[in-house]
Amino acid sequence: MKTVAPYKPLTPSGKGISFENRPLEDFSKEEITELLNKYHWIAFKKNEISLDDLTNYLEQFGSVVKNDRRDGAVLKVDGGKKEEVFLGNGFLPLHKDGLLMGNNVGMVSIFCMEYNEVSDGRTFITDIENAINEVPNEIQDLLRAKGMDVKPLDAYYLTSSDKWYHMSGFLEVDGKEYLNIGFPYKRGEKSSWLTQIEGLNEDEFYEVFDVLDKAVMDPKYCYFHDWEKGDILLFDNRKTLHGREAFKGQRALANIQVVFEK
Ligand SMILES: [Fe+2]
Repeated sequence: MKTVAPYKPLTPSGKGISFENRPLEDFSKEEITELLNKYHWIAFKKNEISLDDLTNYLEQFGSVVKNDRRDGAVLKVDGGKKEEVFLGNGFLPLHKDGLLMGNNVGMVSIFCMEYNEVSDGRTFITDIENAINEVPNEIQDLLRAKGMDVKPLDAYYLTSSDKWYHMSGFLEVDGKEYLNIGFPYKRGEKSSWLTQIEGLNEDEFYEVFDVLDKAVMDPKYCYFHDWEKGDILLFDNRKTLHGREAFKGQRALANIQVVFEK
């Protein structure tokens, strides 16, 4: 197997890479797979592409997610649904895609279709493979033993807002374990989901997540992507967590998800 050239990573911990002058379509499936194995996410700057071409390109990696929230494979996220958080313009804490949609999403692509007079709204993505080393063992053990529970609030989700859904705490991929959790909202903030850990009261729960937050949001591990029209962010959804700042202005992001075939 050939190995990819070393690139300057986006985080001091060595994850993430960015290409300015080479578009996604120029890369073979094998190159992208190797790059994602090594760097976990790739930003392509000003990579104008049609949604059909992007969908076709991604289909070589597995099956693209289709459901009645999407137009074919594409979910357009443009802040238009003000009454909701995710389809509105609210903050999204760190999470993985698919956990509340019943999908095992392996890879996610976000493409910036439209961007006009936007303030804030960066997407952030973090290197949980290395950040976990900053998390005390007792917290890792707690997550390993109990996992956590999440309940959807936005009507967008395909899971029921009457029920808590369990997550395992860690997910094993390629012989390593990766955090498999969704982060909580600050108390009182308009939320897309609720979170809990069985047996912990609210104060204990927030103490755990304060520690986790300090580790994974540290600039050593966390990359913030400032969007421009035509940018593509491609990431391994199993080995990273991502979130979104609240934003103002007119922008549209197209989200396409790939489930890897076993
Ligand atoms: Fe997401």
